[in-house]
Amino acid sequence: MIESGVHHLLDTEIMDLGLSGKRAIVTGGSRGIGRCCALALAREGARVCVTARGRDLLDEVVREIEAAGGEGHAVTADLTSLDGCRKVVQEAVGTFSGIDILINCAGAARGGDILDLPAEQIDEGLALKAHGYLRMAQLVIPYMQENRWGRIVQIAGGAGTSPGRGNIPLSLANIAVLNCTRALTDAVSGDGILVNAICPGLTNTQRARDVQQTEADRLGRDVEELLREAGEKLPAGRIAEPEEIAAAATFLASEPCSYVFGTAVYMDGGGRRGTP
Ligand SMILES: NC(=O)c1ccc[n+]([C@@H]2O[C@H](COP(=O)([O-])OP(=O)(O)OC[C@H]3O[C@@H](n4cnc5c(N)ncnc54)[C@H](OP(=O)(O)O)[C@@H]3O)[C@@H](O)[C@H]2O)c1
Repeated sequence: MIESGVHHLLDTEIMDLGLSGKRAIVTGGSRGIGRCCALALAREGARVCVTARGRDLLDEVVREIEAAGGEGHAVTADLTSLDGCRKVVQEAVGTFSGIDILINCAGAARGGDILDLPAEQIDEGLALKAHGYLRMAQLVIPYMQENRWGRIVQIAGGAGTSPGRGNIPLSLANIAVLNCTRALTDAVSGDGILVNAICPGLTNTQRARDVQQTEADRLGRDVEELLREAGEKLPAGRIAEPEEIAAAATFLASEPCSYVFGTAVYMDGGGRRGTP
């Protein structure tokens, strides 16, 4: 049985997320949504291992965490390979002596029209996001089982349930992540480990620009204009900021989040047409 985390809400005047001293890995932690998740967890007192391929931006995130009085650690790795995933988990466990939280966020699938999409582009998207997220979860779960507590937050994406001719590598990777989120929940909820997903819509990061660039080139338009117009069509009137996604991820990683199992939070500014 999973204990209620409600006492964290009732015993204190402000919401205590219970994250102080928790040990977290954030993949894709050098930029965009992952970077914001790492900074938000660190602000709540978590010890955070950030990972990506590039060293410089990771080091900047660690410096930012340390300047605010937190504890950060950087590991470079390519998470398309099992060896890369193992390296991150081994280094994080070596540094923190365990893992409580995994935020799976590294993603790089490109857009492109399905009629001339190279099949390799689908493989690339799946290698990093579908396989990489699952491998990372499989590798950290034994450490969470030791403490009978864990939180895994999967940054999936609205494209998982909105396939279109221009987004198949993303939508296939995201739907795979959602299926794994559900199946992992069946496997580990009895060990006190909660696995949930967030499906952001367009979010103001470098990746959003990279994905929209193909469309901008096709139309001969400016990518910033396309992003602004996409936001204006939403009930929210704008695209998301990465800090907003990180705030929800931080709650899903927290102690008071004790009765949310195998679900997906859609953060798409109200753009989704299906009923909630
Ligand atoms: N932005 C959006 O509009 C949006 C919408 C829905 C869902 N999402 C999802 O949110 C997640 C984060 O997106 P974002 O917009 O924050 O992306 P971003 O700003 O491009 O950051 C991507 C991160 O992943 C890392 N990464 C890329 N390839 C990697 C690899 N092979 N191995 C290890 N790390 C790798 C990058 O660092 P390096 O390049 O240095 O490795 C970077 O830290 C992705 O899964 C994305 O699909 C984003």
